[in-house]
Amino acid sequence: MFSMKLIKRLILALLLACICYPVFIVIYGLTKFTSSGKINTKFKSARNAMGLENEVRVFNTSIDYSSAKQIHKCVDMKINTLEITPICVYDPEVDLFVSKYIINEGSWEGALILEVVSILRGDPNLEFFDFGCNVGVYTLAIAKFGRRVTALDANQKNLEMLTTSLQMGNLTGMVTLIWNALSDKKELVGFKERETNVGALQMVSGVMNNSIVTDENSSMAIALDDLMPMLRNRPVVIKMDIEAFELKAMIGGKKFFDKVDVKFLLMEWVHHKDSDDGARIIQFLTCRGFKPSNPLERSVTLKIDNRKSWPEDVLWIKDLNWII
Ligand SMILES: *[C@@H]1O[C@H](CO)[C@@H](O)[C@H](O)[C@H]1NC(C)=O
Ligand SMILES: *[C@@H]1O[C@H](CO)[C@@H](O)[C@H](O)[C@H]1NC(C)=O
Ligand SMILES: *[C@@H]1O[C@H](CO)[C@@H](O)[C@H](O)[C@H]1NC(C)=O
Ligand SMILES: *[C@@H]1O[C@H](CO)[C@@H](O)[C@H](O)[C@H]1NC(C)=O
Repeated sequence: MFSMKLIKRLILALLLACICYPVFIVIYGLTKFTSSGKINTKFKSARNAMGLENEVRVFNTSIDYSSAKQIHKCVDMKINTLEITPICVYDPEVDLFVSKYIINEGSWEGALILEVVSILRGDPNLEFFDFGCNVGVYTLAIAKFGRRVTALDANQKNLEMLTTSLQMGNLTGMVTLIWNALSDKKELVGFKERETNVGALQMVSGVMNNSIVTDENSSMAIALDDLMPMLRNRPVVIKMDIEAFELKAMIGGKKFFDKVDVKFLLMEWVHHKDSDDGARIIQFLTCRGFKPSNPLERSVTLKIDNRKSWPEDVLWIKDLNWII
């Protein structure tokens, strides 16, 4: 038989444990979160699992990244008659396409950028969203042209480079940078790096949330709808180059596409000529009143049942009078 005294002691001990354990957890957590600003990676995944990191991350463009080691050099970006502005690039030995081409030719996708500028000229209210901005050819050209830009990229290194380019060109005031991937939901995505194309990372979903991740090999994906609170009520032109995550971005952007007046959407079509995603993207966009066109020949509407023959890039134009 337990004595009354023993029972009382047991209850007291239990009470103390109930109060102290949570306090201990909180204090332990706080010291981990705040210690020296650099959160260890184990805790980072714990933080992620707790949902603390599931936010739109605005990148601070006031910070000086000019000595970041991935910046090979900064050169003049020259696109036809547009004003010149500096652009920082990777070593052409590791970024065989974009950086190398910029160093040799002064630009990348210049013809498409000129098309976007010509669209923007047609309506002074239009703003530009650069989803998957890479080193920032579109963002820089369009900010220099004088239009507000919101640019998003999953790779911190790209944003450090673009921040440096913007500072050199006095353009930080024109641009909001967001450090996230886009998907159909908030999730941790891993990087699948391609050795010859460092700027353009592919994402993979389903990274184990208890595996060790760093800012070098992962990013937080958000849904397009998560951007709603930070948007101004303006019509927009979107460029989306997010390495085959386009359909996911759209599925996570139903409210976005309902509420935001998206007038034009420029996207890569190379991955979608045959893909199931391609069919679903067509369905998503056509039922919202977008018609596909060749970006370099806007007056020609592409045939829905012939998506294999579409060009590498497609410009979707909002036209509510258009009927398939
Ligand atoms: C973490 O992983 C588990 C099991 O794979 C999953 O059920 C859970 O939703 C994940 N949590 C987050 C925040 O991704
Ligand atoms: C951005 O960085 C600058 C320079 O380090 C700093 O003064 C400023 O407080 C930062 N802004 C935010 C919102 O963190
Ligand atoms: C940026 O502004 C500074 C100071 O206002 C000026 O000296 C510099 O020439 C400008 N740079 C460019 C690329 O416009
Ligand atoms: C990310 O990088 C860290 C440190 O280099 C490594 O330990 C970890 O396995 C990597 N995680 C993934 C998912 O690649």
